[in-house]
Amino acid sequence: MSVTRFLSGITPSGTPHLGNYAGMIRPAIRASRDPGVESYYFLADYHALIKAQDPERVHRSTLEIAASWLAAGLDPEQVTFYRQSALPEVTELTWFLTCVTGKGMLNRAHAYKASQDKNAEAGRDSDDGVTAGLFMYPVLMAADILIFNAHKVPVGRDQIQHIEMARDIASSFNHIYGEHFTLPEAVIEDNVATIAGLDGRKMSKSYDNTIPLFTPRDQLRKLVGSIVTDSRAPGEPKETEGSALFQLFQAFATPEQTEAMRRAYADGISWGDAKQALFEQIDAEIAPMRARYDDLMAHPEKVEAALRIGEERARAKSQPFVNSLREAVGLRTLSVAQSGKKAAKETKAALPSFKQYRESDGKFYFKLVSADGRLLLQSTGFTAPKEAGQAIGQLQKSEDALAAWSAYLAPVEGVSEADIKGALQALRDAA
Ligand code: TRP
Repeated sequence: MSVTRFLSGITPSGTPHLGNYAGMIRPAIRASRDPGVESYYFLADYHALIKAQDPERVHRSTLEIAASWLAAGLDPEQVTFYRQSALPEVTELTWFLTCVTGKGMLNRAHAYKASQDKNAEAGRDSDDGVTAGLFMYPVLMAADILIFNAHKVPVGRDQIQHIEMARDIASSFNHIYGEHFTLPEAVIEDNVATIAGLDGRKMSKSYDNTIPLFTPRDQLRKLVGSIVTDSRAPGEPKETEGSALFQLFQAFATPEQTEAMRRAYADGISWGDAKQALFEQIDAEIAPMRARYDDLMAHPEKVEAALRIGEERARAKSQPFVNSLREAVGLRTLSVAQSGKKAAKETKAALPSFKQYRESDGKFYFKLVSADGRLLLQSTGFTAPKEAGQAIGQLQKSEDALAAWSAYLAPVEGVSEADIKGALQALRDAA
């Protein structure tokens, strides 16, 4: 069975709240238990430096977030869990990617444009207070994703543009240096309800309406007590629609419990009783995790040890991969004997080739790549690998197959029919 690699980063700024837990941490940990999934989750601490220049805060937040994920049940043997900064290869890859990224594309990045617009509104120079770090953020993020050739990247809607940029950057690199990168896809968790905050708007740090995930029990009760409700009296039927309290309850309850609460609303449960029920419901799920969290915060060396497990595994992949990319871009040893031998081997092997692969959509694809790694021909998806094999077989034998299979061949921009025919001819000549 083919595995799907999931990867996502968490910028360590601030403390996680219930919205982060229900919207990201919990679904990610559940998904990581699926045997068909390989998960990479990391603390995006290089990213943190863009926003936070208080070293104590970066350090503290990294610990809190790592401890939160571990306390919530992340198993470091199952998930590759690491600090981005433990992989210096990420910064090296960032540079390789920087050199194939159009500056114009970065000019269009939402985060950068938002800062510019703010400056314009305030009548300041458009780049006032904008660091090159903020400008380069999408390239760093592309490196995060591409270093493990992730297929799926679970993110919030605000990050979709960055995943699209990562795809663009990967394509540019592949186009110039050969097929080194898989094109990642964003995964938006639409079935995870947005969690309402204390004031009924989406729970978010920027609205200051959050319930911290591991706040002590008494504090949790107080905060739940402060959730806004309408003024209906006990005994009056209540609306579930638009009720922050009900939404939060649902995020922590089974469908049966949710149904029971829906009936209680209709039957006129008092807001006081509903809040008590919500508090109990959240606390039942969180209490064992809170105990683990408190223990980890008291013993940060345990968190360090858990991260080291993931970092060792991650580096065992990132190091050889970035080494192969160094080769690909031409940063090679100058030892004459070696490179001479290699060059001789490469001339002999310099033929176009067909590559067959399976995408995360479960379909089978092939492509024809020129000797220098340029994409010449791209198939659409076949349901059976045999069909893809058949098409390749015929294309290798005769040029006429191009027309016969045309319905299954997606055009590649900038590639002429002559290029394709030339490559097929070269293959026949060598056969
Ligand atoms: N920029 C993301 C955010 O603010 C965090 C992040 C950094 C990330 N690198 C990533 C997410 C790679 C997914 C993949 O939410």
